[in-house]
Amino acid sequence: FTIMPPSRDPDGQFTKNAKLGSHSLMLRKKLKDQKTVIDNKNANETMSNVVNNNNQNKRNENTISEPHASKNEEQKELIEESYEDIQNKRKQLPAYKCGNEILNIVRENQVVVIVGETGSGKTTQLPQILSKEYGKKIGITQPRRVAALSVATRVAQEMNVELGTLVGYTIRFEDKTTKDTRIKYMTDGILLRETLKDSMLYEYDCIIMDEAHERTLNTDVLLGFFKNLLAKRRDIKLIITSATMNASKFVQFFPNAPNYIIPGRTFPVTNIYTRFPVSDYLESAIQQCVKIHMSTPLNEDILIFMTGQEDVEMACGMLMEKLIAVYSSKYQEDPDKLQNEICIFPFYSTLPQDSQKQVFKPLNSTNKRKVIVSTNIAETSLTIDGIKHVIDCGYSKLKVYNPRIGLDSLQITPISQANAQQRSGRAGRTGPGTCYRLYTESTFLFEMYKETIPEIQRTNLSNVLLMLKSLGVQDVLSFPFIDPPPKVTLMTSLYELWSIGTLDNMGNLTKLGTQMAKFPLNPNLCKMLINSIALDCTEELLIIVSMLSIPNIFYRPKNAEAEADKERARFYVAGSDHITLLNVYSQWRANRYSSQWCKKHYIIYRSMQRANDIIGQLRSIMDSIVKGNMRKSRRYNSNKTNTILGIHDNNTFSSWKNVRKCIVSGYSYKNIGKRVGLNKYISLQNGMPLQLHPTSSLFGLGDLPPYVVYHELLLTTKEYITVVTAADPIWLVEYNLLFFNISCTDSAQQEIAENIQKLKEKKLKRLQDDKAMFNSNAIKELD
Ligand code: CDP
Ligand code: MG
Repeated sequence: FTIMPPSRDPDGQFTKNAKLGSHSLMLRKKLKDQKTVIDNKNANETMSNVVNNNNQNKRNENTISEPHASKNEEQKELIEESYEDIQNKRKQLPAYKCGNEILNIVRENQVVVIVGETGSGKTTQLPQILSKEYGKKIGITQPRRVAALSVATRVAQEMNVELGTLVGYTIRFEDKTTKDTRIKYMTDGILLRETLKDSMLYEYDCIIMDEAHERTLNTDVLLGFFKNLLAKRRDIKLIITSATMNASKFVQFFPNAPNYIIPGRTFPVTNIYTRFPVSDYLESAIQQCVKIHMSTPLNEDILIFMTGQEDVEMACGMLMEKLIAVYSSKYQEDPDKLQNEICIFPFYSTLPQDSQKQVFKPLNSTNKRKVIVSTNIAETSLTIDGIKHVIDCGYSKLKVYNPRIGLDSLQITPISQANAQQRSGRAGRTGPGTCYRLYTESTFLFEMYKETIPEIQRTNLSNVLLMLKSLGVQDVLSFPFIDPPPKVTLMTSLYELWSIGTLDNMGNLTKLGTQMAKFPLNPNLCKMLINSIALDCTEELLIIVSMLSIPNIFYRPKNAEAEADKERARFYVAGSDHITLLNVYSQWRANRYSSQWCKKHYIIYRSMQRANDIIGQLRSIMDSIVKGNMRKSRRYNSNKTNTILGIHDNNTFSSWKNVRKCIVSGYSYKNIGKRVGLNKYISLQNGMPLQLHPTSSLFGLGDLPPYVVYHELLLTTKEYITVVTAADPIWLVEYNLLFFNISCTDSAQQEIAENIQKLKEKKLKRLQDDKAMFNSNAIKELD
């Protein structure tokens, strides 16, 4: 081990990062190239995955290996629990045992804060306990989609009913409930959306805000919302659950709420720290895991915490390689020994559901070890039984507002002490355990935050403010936030909403804003969809927006990168990655939605099916907006499957005018790039250099468009823009994206510049007046 000098904080943010010094350098070398997906989507649920980029010059962004399609081998070794097993297990849970006490305390109080160790049965048992008393509907919110889904499945099993009947779940774009559903698991984002439809939540007589300690943005807004609602609906019960003992925040926020503690049954966990900071947490984790495997009984399972999907996948691969190497030298005569001894499972939120379920099932032999490599979803949201050893890398991925670029990004960030304690706790559920912390004790004691900073204090608030405004909250600055966000962030977000036309000069919702709030999408995508009505390209935009809502469309298997890239390039539409996505979809449709076709072209079939679902849902929202009083958008005959591409001959740059115009119209001043060199653009917002990402269809073109809009910014060693579309600068002015002066030295651009100048002179004055008025109103509000 070597001690490294302190790392610099790349963005001048999260100053704690910088203080962590050598600890930060545990980020392995690969992470120098680690991308951060700038969450321009800023949607309720993060849809992007941060993908590793080993070679910046390869077209490999947003392409991952086809997710574990088949796990047949492992499935054979897993056992299905019988109904009796499940019931027996259930009766052992601490929450089950104190069911009556919980019922009593809920009966007597409108708000109850319930604290219990992870795995004590809060999520699965509380709704079942409460359903004895509460007849309408019980809603349980989860910060993570995967938890909502997985837990609903478990509870349906426990109650011996089919999922989607008495017990169901709703996550964005996926509703598995009926009008008879009594126990409804959902993401906190979904409940927040429901408050828009019915601000009294009459459907429910009981809401459980689960995992409140995670303090997601949506949870925080819901807490504020309930603060107002509880007085209006005396009959509704609110239960707030938290896995950490520090529930005092909630008790202070709801002063009359009792704090009920579910008696724990945890065992001591020994924390073992590294003596020196490790230089590569991934390698250290693998080494540690092999060491444990070689020296402990096989019935003791291991849980390894990594930061994200890419880390998890890589760790699984490396661990296998390492074990093969160790085994082949140790057990030369018996190479099968490895397979009989160990089962490795990746676990992360975008893993296919089937593979996720496997993780919970017990192995059929006690002489075999389970190793689970997980993101922080296994920290408190989901409990895997039988873990005896935990390896904690000390990091997690967090959404952080990056003031330099004015956008949210997912960044690998040191965990807090509270996270570390939770991770350790996973080893002590069934007996004493061990946690190997891949950082020093002094890092833990003196460099980690005590608690994670709540999301509301570190992210962009545009979506939330749009929602609050639609809920009729006029003065967002005095909304009862449990931890008020910084005023500067509030103001920036208000300004952004105003700049895309969502708020008027007085800070009230415009008609556009009201329509936008109906979509479960980020404001840019909503605006595009709404503008598509006037531009007569709704069908195309429904497809594009839906395709953008899916994290991965293309996959790029390790041994066939070149082939996959070639296939991908076949779909390129000159000048637009957005339209390239449309092209993929319409060709898929032309091939009768075939899975074979997807396979052939390295496209993830599951993603395409999901896009289809999303199109349907967004279409019904569009219909409700159009409703006859507006001119209906063109609906082409879906039997003529090639229409979309057919009518635009040859996919030439100029043939997609309306669609491109519509795409451009959705973005804001933050998403414009101006060309300054070969493959190089700068941000018109702040002059930051931007590179076209190699996966862009524009990459390497000789004649690059002078202006582009982009959907995402990836932070690596450089700033890359992905999902890019050429923008006619006139449109930028027409749709108010430009508040800036354009100076042209290039004579070819002279004419454009003159046209813009004419338009601008007319518009700029008005814009400036508007801006001044908006600012003075806003400042008044602040004062
Ligand atoms: O919410 P809390 O962490 O208190 O516990 P829980 O999620 O209700 O889990 C209680 C028990 O249910 C644990 O023993 C889990 O292993 C089990 N469970 C499961 O087997 N499968 C799931 N999908 C969820 C929970
Ligand atoms: Mg839980």
